[in-house]
Amino acid sequence: MTFTGTTNKSITIKVDLATGFIEGYPTLQRNLSYMKGMFRDDAAYEALLAKGDVKMYDFYDLGLPRTSAELAVGTSIVYPGKVGDEYFMTKGHFHEVLECTEVYYCLSGHGYMLMESPEGDWEVGEFLPGQAVYVPGRYAHRSINVSPDEPLKTFFVFRGDAGHDYGTIERKGFRKLMVERDGKPAVIDNPKWGNA
Ligand code: NI
Repeated sequence: MTFTGTTNKSITIKVDLATGFIEGYPTLQRNLSYMKGMFRDDAAYEALLAKGDVKMYDFYDLGLPRTSAELAVGTSIVYPGKVGDEYFMTKGHFHEVLECTEVYYCLSGHGYMLMESPEGDWEVGEFLPGQAVYVPGRYAHRSINVSPDEPLKTFFVFRGDAGHDYGTIERKGFRKLMVERDGKPAVIDNPKWGNA
């Protein structure tokens, strides 16, 4: 089998462990305003946004060719904070090629990967330093930072042509949410699901 569109050379990826940034690559910065409608408590969201459009997460991608022979590689850094009682998180996505899996390796911090399939099955994987979450095919996935003061930094790898489907999440949200209950993370039903 012949693969086309490959890099044909090795790449040294330098992750700054203090920040999670990848040297030599630009960040795709996501602020609170990018997450409109994603949080359960709209009043808390608007109140927080009125104080400032804070940075919610950074996202680095090496931008390699989007072919089945390549891997998409990068880091995600979710900053600590809450909207009401709901933790800061990424928007989350399905893969355009729905069956494609992904691995997220936790570099530092404490959080969870919330995962759910179109059929409504869901799972939660915990992020602790040195611990990785293998996201199964068909599952949307979202990183959630439950630490009060430390960024959640992960390193991800998935098939190069899998792509991102953010639109489904923007329209419907996730069926489950992670909120703080008695000082601890808890998974609850999303009352806005289907109408984010
Ligand atoms: Ni993904």
